[in-house]
Amino acid sequence: AINKMDLVDYSEKTYNQIVEDYTTFSKQLGIENITFIPMSAFKGDNITDPSPKMPWYRGTTLMGYLETVEIDDERMKSTPFRLPVQWVNRPNLDFRGFSGQISGGAVKPGDRIRVLPSGKESTVARIVTLDGDLEEGVAGQSVTITLEDEIDISRGDLLVEASEPAEVAKQFETTIIWMHEEPLLPGRTYLMKVGTKTVSATLTDIKYQVNVNTMEHMAAKKLELNGIGVCTISLDQAIAFDAYSNNQDTGGYILIDRLSNNTVGAGLLNFALRRSQNIVMQHVDVDKEARSTIKQQKPCILWLTGLSGAGKSTIANLVEKKLYSMGHHTYLLDGDNIRHGLNKDLGFTDGDRVENIRRISEIARLMVDAGLIVISAFISPFRSERDMARSMVEDGEFIEVHVNTPLNVAEDRDVKGLYKKARKGELKNFTGIDSPYEAPENPECRLDTTNVTPEECADKVIEYMQERGYI
Ligand code: ADX
Repeated sequence: AINKMDLVDYSEKTYNQIVEDYTTFSKQLGIENITFIPMSAFKGDNITDPSPKMPWYRGTTLMGYLETVEIDDERMKSTPFRLPVQWVNRPNLDFRGFSGQISGGAVKPGDRIRVLPSGKESTVARIVTLDGDLEEGVAGQSVTITLEDEIDISRGDLLVEASEPAEVAKQFETTIIWMHEEPLLPGRTYLMKVGTKTVSATLTDIKYQVNVNTMEHMAAKKLELNGIGVCTISLDQAIAFDAYSNNQDTGGYILIDRLSNNTVGAGLLNFALRRSQNIVMQHVDVDKEARSTIKQQKPCILWLTGLSGAGKSTIANLVEKKLYSMGHHTYLLDGDNIRHGLNKDLGFTDGDRVENIRRISEIARLMVDAGLIVISAFISPFRSERDMARSMVEDGEFIEVHVNTPLNVAEDRDVKGLYKKARKGELKNFTGIDSPYEAPENPECRLDTTNVTPEECADKVIEYMQERGYI
């Protein structure tokens, strides 16, 4: 829709120039069919009635076009059968149907189908609709399918043609368009909704960002609002999918913020990364339970969060000493130390902080698996990453401890002299000054360091652990 033609006096020449430019540009995008309509939304030209101001244009009006345009129905019908299961329908014991909208191909009673990701197979018995049974269901129709065998199928599964199944994978190359004010950061975890399935997704890497004006590829560390990037993404569980170029429903998804529930991005699955198919989790006989039983403790992460200078390291140290003297096996992960080693490539931008916490969460998870009580002391300013760390371990294994020190108190202490520097502008992105700190809303344990000594704070943590049976 070439809008605002009224501003150029309905000039045919201007219109033709735009059509020419756009046609050249869109070739690079691989778009084959484009219809151009000159219009003025403000004056109502070519919206519902042909505009007398543009007699040189003989094509359709915008509404006329939208009402008659042929959508890609035929193509959808010729792709292999796909049905994302929206819900399992069981009105009585004799009937068990799987309902959803067919997103590709066609299906008939007697067809062999496969359930993904489980891979189980069965044969279609009936295709039920409100208007009676169908001889054939095709893409676009909402149907309920019954099968000849009782197999386990739940919401979010994908029914596919057995001879032409979709792929199943956990890691992908994907094209993302970011639609939120807060940038998309590698390492941060979002919810991904593909068809009827919702999983956790973490951006692992931005290969490049696309400049939409020139189609150039640019290096990027994050995607800002309206940014389009080709990225790799990793899921917490395998999903069934088709490449977006083959099926827009099973190959397209949206990203949802875990805290606000807002849709923050949309994406296309390009292909599965091979490495994701070739890595299999090893089953081990000596497991977490075995390792923690020998230590007579319940492994967990004591996650201390708070401003710089709040007292995290001091309290963490005291807690570890106390646990050690009680005969427990612990490990202390501390901001300043980790940043000298494993994370020495990271600074203090939002993106680097997210990556800092992502790596630490992974290490803490491994240490919990080793049966240890892990004490971590990082500012960890963002709720999102603390929640991610929490979600990496089992319920009850993450104890969030808010070392609650108001900014003015931490700044007065200024043990390392960093607040002074930050105030003078010599230190950028300093937490509490020009970089945000999002306090925990419901921490398991809150330590008020203004009136309580570090020793007493540490005792409070130990008490919490004893009451809950960790030690
Ligand atoms: S986090 O935000 O990524 O969790 P982390 O706890 O690892 O931070 O590191 C914080 C420590 O780095 C602070 O205690 C302080 O000594 C030092 N530091 C240096 N620059 C900054 C900064 N810009 N903001 C916060 N801490 C900083």
